[in-house]
Amino acid sequence: MSDPINASFRPRIFSGIQPSGGLTLGNYLGALKRFAALQGGEAETIYCIVDLHAITVWQDPDALRNRIREAAAAFMAAGVDPARSVLFNQSQVSAHAEMAWLFNTVARVGWMYRMTQFKDKAGKNTENVSLGLLAYPALMAADILTYQATAVPVGEDQKQHLELTRDIAAKFNHDYKVNHFPIPEPLIEGVATRVMSLRDGSRKMSKSDPSDASRINLTDDADTIAQKIRKARTDADPLPGQMDGLKDRPEARNLVNIYAALADQTPDQVLARFEGQGFASFKPALAEIAVQVLSPITRRMSEYMADPAQIDRILADGAERADAIARPILERTKDIMGLLKTRT
Ligand code: TYM
Repeated sequence: MSDPINASFRPRIFSGIQPSGGLTLGNYLGALKRFAALQGGEAETIYCIVDLHAITVWQDPDALRNRIREAAAAFMAAGVDPARSVLFNQSQVSAHAEMAWLFNTVARVGWMYRMTQFKDKAGKNTENVSLGLLAYPALMAADILTYQATAVPVGEDQKQHLELTRDIAAKFNHDYKVNHFPIPEPLIEGVATRVMSLRDGSRKMSKSDPSDASRINLTDDADTIAQKIRKARTDADPLPGQMDGLKDRPEARNLVNIYAALADQTPDQVLARFEGQGFASFKPALAEIAVQVLSPITRRMSEYMADPAQIDRILADGAERADAIARPILERTKDIMGLLKTRT
């Protein structure tokens, strides 16, 4: 899918997470763990807590402030190192909001109404949701393209938004006859690109699911994790020797995939070990590895959260470094569109 135009841009990775609720095992395996692993490679890594996205639905202000800091703590606890990556909070770099407005004039309304996430969140209520919820993907495109990012690690659920980002970049380049924006590549890789609910194998594990038993939160303690896994919905059959045998067993497939992602193994390696066994033996093993991986993260998160002023300093430093990259790209974008540059 690599676009030839990307060769003229330096490799740069951008991704973001909403601070709209506590982060889940899905966010960890589908995003945070991979963010950490991508550091130190050929591409510069830029990671963002996207608070402007979170406010497209109502957020209690005090809770939001706390969740922004908690998300920063989660990034760092999962291994994102502010010395090796740029880690910052979206609203503290105003280029995002400015670029989003420019993209509101490039994107088409029809593109926005086609987004399944908008349809899911708005339901039958399309006339009464915030305008921001509809325009959300133009802000997401702004996040990525304000850094001329070439690759974006995300979970499966963000694929359609990434396609729209590519459409915005291509339309801008076409309309203004420039090669100003790369066409960013989605990095949707590994076995955990879509971690499912523990209660319903057809639904994504999500911080907004009303049932807390449906997810593992990064703040859950060891007993809670073990209990949620014990109660996870499964079936009565033993595990097969290969993933093909789980085609029609979504809940079982999900638990095997989670084990594989936590253990850095392939699902078939996991099944080779558990073939013929039932969930009475698989679930305790899964709980054990989940606790082993998540407990140090939960502990580091609470250590960071004990010093909010330090988190604020880290985010302020990240915002300054992000701004230094974003500002000239925004100015160039305005210039291409015929707007006068910002006074200096
Ligand atoms: P958000 O906050 O819903 O999720 C953050 C990241 O976690 C991934 N994820 C999952 N991966 C696997 N299984 C799951 N159950 C699961 N749940 C969530 C998401 O795919 C995502 O990678 N619109 C984005 C945030 C965003 C963004 C951006 C991302 C704003 N601007 C620019 C990348 C680049 C969102 O709502 O993600």
